Amino acid sequence: MARGEEIYNDFCLTCHLPNGAGVKDVYPPLAKSDYLAENRKASIHLLKYGIDGPIKVNGVTYNGSMPAMGLDDDEIADVMNYITNQWGNTNKNRVTEKEVAAIKK
Ligand code: HEC
Repeated sequence: MARGEEIYNDFCLTCHLPNGAGVKDVYPPLAKSDYLAENRKASIHLLKYGIDGPIKVNGVTYNGSMPAMGLDDDEIADVMNYITNQWGNTNKNRVTEKEVAAIKK
């Protein structure tokens, strides 16, 4: 969690903001995000490879793009564990480095 927080602060906070709320119609929220809660594999995938094109989060369609940030698999696991356990999110089933490694383009 501590490592994930550091990564979040370094790489994610500028867009998704300190409270994970994002910016309406521009950067989707992570706090209480149904997308993040329900699409574990796709969330890991977009952290690994980036995402471009429409995505629906809590009923709002975002059509932006998020670049891959060149994080290592263990760093993606750490930041996933952080964002899925912050701001009211809970996920007891921890993401592991191995799980991230198994997600291919
Ligand atoms: C340059 C701004 C930017 C940065 C930096 C950024 N994101 Fe994103 N993120 C976006 C945008 C824009 C989308 C929606 C992409 C789309 O519309 O296809 C998104 C989507 C997401 C989603 C899926 C949608 C949701 O809200 O649940 C997750 C999860 C996510 N980002 C996590 C992260 C994490 C973790 C980091 C840091 C490692 C990060 N993002 C860094 C802009 C950013």
